[in-house]
Amino acid sequence: MVKVLAFSGSTRNGSLNQALAENAAAAAREAGAEVTVINLADYAMPMFNQDEEDQYGIPERAQAFKQLLIDHDAFLIASPEYNSSYPAVLKNAIDWASRKAGDEAVLAAYKNKVVGLMAASPGALGGMRVLVVLRMLMQNLMCVVTPLQVSVAKAADKLDEAGKLTDETANKQLANLASQVVSMAEKLKD
Ligand SMILES: Cc1cc2nc3c(=O)[nH]c(=O)nc-3n(C[C@H](O)[C@H](O)[C@H](O)COP(=O)(O)O)c2cc1C
Repeated sequence: MVKVLAFSGSTRNGSLNQALAENAAAAAREAGAEVTVINLADYAMPMFNQDEEDQYGIPERAQAFKQLLIDHDAFLIASPEYNSSYPAVLKNAIDWASRKAGDEAVLAAYKNKVVGLMAASPGALGGMRVLVVLRMLMQNLMCVVTPLQVSVAKAADKLDEAGKLTDETANKQLANLASQVVSMAEKLKD
C-alpha cells in the first residue's frame, strides 16, 4: 500500500492550510493510501545555519521530519502564500531535510517521491502563485509533482467549524488530486 505524508506550510492554530491537508489526507485514504498527517508545529527547528550544522549536525526534530519524508512514498503539501511565495517555516523544513546525514543517499527524502500541491487562502486568488514556485522547488529536489494541483480561494468560507471542506467543487478537485498522487506513487513503486 502506498504511504502518503500530508502536512501544511503553516504552524498557525486554526490554519486553513492544515485543514486542507487534513481533507486531502481523507481523500487519499479514500483512494487507497495509508496516510500520516503531521503538523510542522510539532517539528520546530532552528533556521538553517551551515556553521551550526557543521558543529552539531542535523537537529533532532529536523532529522525526525526528514525520516518521515524518507519513510513515505508521496507527500500532500498545502502551503500558505506569503507575498506570492512559500512561508519560511516550510522552506526551512524542506532545506533541513535536503541535507545528507551519514551514508544516506543524496536527496533521500525527495528522490522519486510523488508530490501533490495545494494552497488555501482567504483571498480571491487562493494562493495560486505559491503553487508555481513550490512546484519548481519540489521538482528541483527530484520529486515528481503531479500535473493536478488545488487552490482554494476564500477558504475561510469553505471550511466548517470542524475544518471539513464544504465546497463541492473543491472537494472534487481534492479527490482527483489525491487519486492522481496515489496512482502515480503506485506506478513508481513497481
Ligand atoms: C507575511 C504574509 C504574507 C501574505 N501574503 C499573501 C499573499 O501573497 N497571497 C495571499 O493570498 N495571502 C497572503 N497572506 C494571507 C494568508 O493567505 C493568510 O494569512 C492565510 O490564512 C495563511 O494560511 P494559514 O491559514 O494556513 O496559516 C499573507 C499573510 C502573511 C502573514
